[in-house]
Amino acid sequence: MRYRTIGTDPKTSREVSVLSLGAMLFGTVTDERTSLAILDRYAEAGGTFIDTADGYAYWADGGQGGQSEKLLGRWRASRGVGDEIVIATKLGARPLAPGTSFLDNAEGLSAAVIRESSQRSRDRLGQARLDLLYAHIEDPAVPLSETVEGFAALVAEGTVGLLGVSNHWAWRVERARGLAAAAGLPCYEVLQYQYSYLRPRADLPGLLSPDGMQGVLGGDLLSYLRSEPQLSMVVYSPLLKGGYVSPDRLDPAEFDHPGTPARLAALREVAKDAGATVNQVVLAWLIGAEVPMIPLVGASSTAQLQESLAAVDLELTAEQRARLDAAR
Ligand SMILES: NC(=O)c1ccc[n+]([C@@H]2O[C@H](COP(=O)([O-])OP(=O)(O)OC[C@H]3O[C@@H](n4cnc5c(N)ncnc54)[C@H](OP(=O)(O)O)[C@@H]3O)[C@@H](O)[C@H]2O)c1
Repeated sequence: MRYRTIGTDPKTSREVSVLSLGAMLFGTVTDERTSLAILDRYAEAGGTFIDTADGYAYWADGGQGGQSEKLLGRWRASRGVGDEIVIATKLGARPLAPGTSFLDNAEGLSAAVIRESSQRSRDRLGQARLDLLYAHIEDPAVPLSETVEGFAALVAEGTVGLLGVSNHWAWRVERARGLAAAAGLPCYEVLQYQYSYLRPRADLPGLLSPDGMQGVLGGDLLSYLRSEPQLSMVVYSPLLKGGYVSPDRLDPAEFDHPGTPARLAALREVAKDAGATVNQVVLAWLIGAEVPMIPLVGASSTAQLQESLAAVDLELTAEQRARLDAAR
């Protein structure tokens, strides 16, 4: 395994593996036994960075989530897991009532939600301090200063280590960080967005905004990261939810454009050349990117995880990387 530091303050920064494991479906779609086996295999391989959220996975049973955090809590307790594993969780998108969703009834980012939901996450995970807590989605109804102060209060109390943000427009991240800096408060240091080698169309309206898809890493955020190298970028759905292996899973609305076949062809060529799988080339491309990325993979079996873990040791040559970058 290889490792990377997230955060800058020596009191809260952590060393994490360059491959992060998503636990979104653990305890619901992925049964208990398989989930625990995947977690054990990940830890054995030196993996130290696990991702969840308070609302995972509410859609699996029409409830309000919590199953993934609870399963991680059981795993931590039964294996005696301590500080060596960083567990990131999120709040803000959990539905406020069964049968609803983050689209119509999200808990949001008020000071009260930040306090109460983070406490519930600590209880489910069995942790006195959350290692990394993200704002899962934007809450335009709450003043940004309230959200910033709400998160900072938890850091001051010591119930949260690092702060992160997901699925926000770049300007909202910068504004929040600006407010915090002016007030001398800690703020988001880890960003989590959707990103992979294939590019989705950037001109489509998103689920939460007519202006586009806030969750997709684009040019604004890439340029932001270049100018703020102390920030860390975690990228979700790097394997396009299995879309490289089963292209029928790719949403035609997002991927039906000339860049897709060009990039798939380059990927297959480089995979053949490198003696690796297409998924592994994608992960190696992300891990070794000029603007560093921590891919956050999902797996529904230890075999899938094993394939992803092996990508950590795959070093693409400069020529292979150039070939991948040139395809568009
Ligand atoms: N911040 C956010 O809003 C947000 C949103 C989405 C996800 N996330 C986080 O990101 C994590 C990963 O998301 P994701 O599951 O979409 O990521 P992903 O890595 O793109 O997709 C994982 C899925 O790809 C398939 N897969 C993985 N390895 C494979 C292999 N070797 N061969 C064939 N298929 C393979 C599996 O599908 P099958 O199980 O169908 O085989 C697996 O469940 C989540 O667990 C969650 O923690 C965050």
